[in-house]
Amino acid sequence: MTQDALVIFTPSGKRGRVALGTPVLTAARQLGVDLDSVCGGRGICSKCQVAPQFGDFAKHGLSVAPDALSPVNAVEERYDRIRGLAAGRRLGCQACIMGDVVIDVPAESQLHRQVIRKSATERVMEMDPATRAFYVEVAQPDMHAPEGDFQRLAAALEFQFQIKGLAVDLEVMRHLQPTLRKGDWAVTAAVYQGGGAPRLVGLWPGLREAPLYGLAIDLGSTTIAGHLVELTDGRVLASSGLMNPQIRFGEDLMSRVSYVMMNPGGAAEMTRAVQQGLAQLATALADEAGVPLADVVEAVLVCNPVMHHLMLGIDPVELGQAPFALASSDSLDLRASDLGIAGLAPGARAYVLPLIAGHVGADAAAVALSEAPEMRPDLTLIVDVGTNAEIILGNSNRVLACSSPTGPAFEGAQISAGQRAAPGAIERVEIDPATKEPRFKVIGCDLWSTEPGFAAATAATGITGICGSGIIEAVAEMRMAGIVDASGLIGSAEQVGSSRSEPQGRTHAYLLHDATATGGPRIAVTQGDIRAIQLAKSALYAGARLLMDEMGVDAVDRVVLAGAFGAHISPKHAMVLGMIPDCPLEHVTSAGNAAGTGARMALCSVSARRAIEAQVRRIAKIETAIEPRFQEHFVAANALPHATAPFPHLASVVTLPDVAFNTGGGDGGRPRRRRG
Ligand code: FES
Repeated sequence: MTQDALVIFTPSGKRGRVALGTPVLTAARQLGVDLDSVCGGRGICSKCQVAPQFGDFAKHGLSVAPDALSPVNAVEERYDRIRGLAAGRRLGCQACIMGDVVIDVPAESQLHRQVIRKSATERVMEMDPATRAFYVEVAQPDMHAPEGDFQRLAAALEFQFQIKGLAVDLEVMRHLQPTLRKGDWAVTAAVYQGGGAPRLVGLWPGLREAPLYGLAIDLGSTTIAGHLVELTDGRVLASSGLMNPQIRFGEDLMSRVSYVMMNPGGAAEMTRAVQQGLAQLATALADEAGVPLADVVEAVLVCNPVMHHLMLGIDPVELGQAPFALASSDSLDLRASDLGIAGLAPGARAYVLPLIAGHVGADAAAVALSEAPEMRPDLTLIVDVGTNAEIILGNSNRVLACSSPTGPAFEGAQISAGQRAAPGAIERVEIDPATKEPRFKVIGCDLWSTEPGFAAATAATGITGICGSGIIEAVAEMRMAGIVDASGLIGSAEQVGSSRSEPQGRTHAYLLHDATATGGPRIAVTQGDIRAIQLAKSALYAGARLLMDEMGVDAVDRVVLAGAFGAHISPKHAMVLGMIPDCPLEHVTSAGNAAGTGARMALCSVSARRAIEAQVRRIAKIETAIEPRFQEHFVAANALPHATAPFPHLASVVTLPDVAFNTGGGDGGRPRRRRG
């Protein structure tokens, strides 16, 4: 008589022989099949559900008899009666293998499943979270056995789930005894297994059925944005953001570094401010999602190097001067409470992605994780535009990264009528090449300024200024309409043929909107604005070009614009300005908040963490500050779109007027060396 049976698991295709009478859950473990279990096979969590298949399977050369599994037992009957078990489903911990069988593991029972989410960015989330719940029954204390409650809990987790060497923080230990007694020695333990010793991060009496939650946080210089994510399926339950409270110490990063240098205790003050911001965001997200903050067991953080150091309470002064040394570039595995994020599960962990280089942060690493240029044969240029542009160029052969000091012009700063992206800011601009008349859209209103109803629709917000994407479109449209020449000079009213070009000292400005008659602002694009944009875009292009030199190429296959700002830039306008190298316009895409997506991927998956840690070690870092060719590229990139590089793809869709308003030689400007 046969003592064992063949079992084939689908969809993995894993197969093997197991002894008759082996529970399906045990067989799955023996064969390395992904089958979930929270209660350790007690028949109470139902995470181990499987769908046995019966009949003939020619493909497998197998015929499965109706009695290939043991009959439904009392535990399953009870579960079905109380909670309901779908037709055809069995509990894997109860059903035993009695003959050759094919067993399907449905997606919701797989530990490392793929979940496609249609949230901000649609993508497949690999679920392999570091923190999981385990239900255990713990031996009660005994006068004759001196071990502590924690040791008996650890022994139960080792015996039932093979979790060896459990560690615990004092904060969790403080809750241990009342919880064990409240649960009558049955508890659900949240255990973090993200690297190093497994850690007990939270404990609940009895079987906890609600999911565990995590936070994915993108800590930017201006805003702190976060998602609250369900750790079982990667679902985003809440998304929110707030201004970085450090803004009061300086708008850009460099001014914050200067604040630290000039004010004793300044770094600690800024650390407190940002940690309070993180705690505030965590509370807001939990409120919005309607989940207890104490059910949040993990946070993943991404940020630029200066924010990274300030968040951790490390003086960022070394990042303000060559050679821009980081305190540590590796990923960090910390207690969330070390970052001042209070109120989470008592032992909640915080994982910070690795930094790529002194000016290329964990946010860029998150973009690299999310976009994965190393997985594609074609050459991808990824540009995350901020005060400091972070640039990645790569394909399956090689990936390079650098940062470039673009300054804050792309964010509307240093622009005469510039402002942050907020209701009332001009975000889209079009200029009629024949009449030179503009029309525009402001944030908060879908109508063009020339459409009926625009005035009424914008009455509440007003038209207050130009945001980053607005200034890019305005300058590009001025170039396309022949109001600005290739050197960046604005022509006079006579040269341009429009009274909207107004003299301003020895230069000209183009009037976009005049509301002075009704007490509103006068919004114009000045020569100084164009120079500021030229400096910023030259720095961006020069950084990208430097990476292309290093790669030995003159063109890229595709460009990905990352970051919240990247989502609003029009590819055509960006290319007219020469912000990015020429490539087919349809190959220029926006990745939305790729850093936030990368943070979510790392939150949902330990393998994603290990993958980006390894990838960051492989990425070659190019330091623009010491690279002499950067200066050459910068100067050549000053023209709109470029002094020497051909832009054939751009030329096929846009003809730029051949105008020249320069009578005395244009000032090319100097590259900014400052960072921030
Ligand atoms: S493992 Fe919990 S019900 Fe089967």
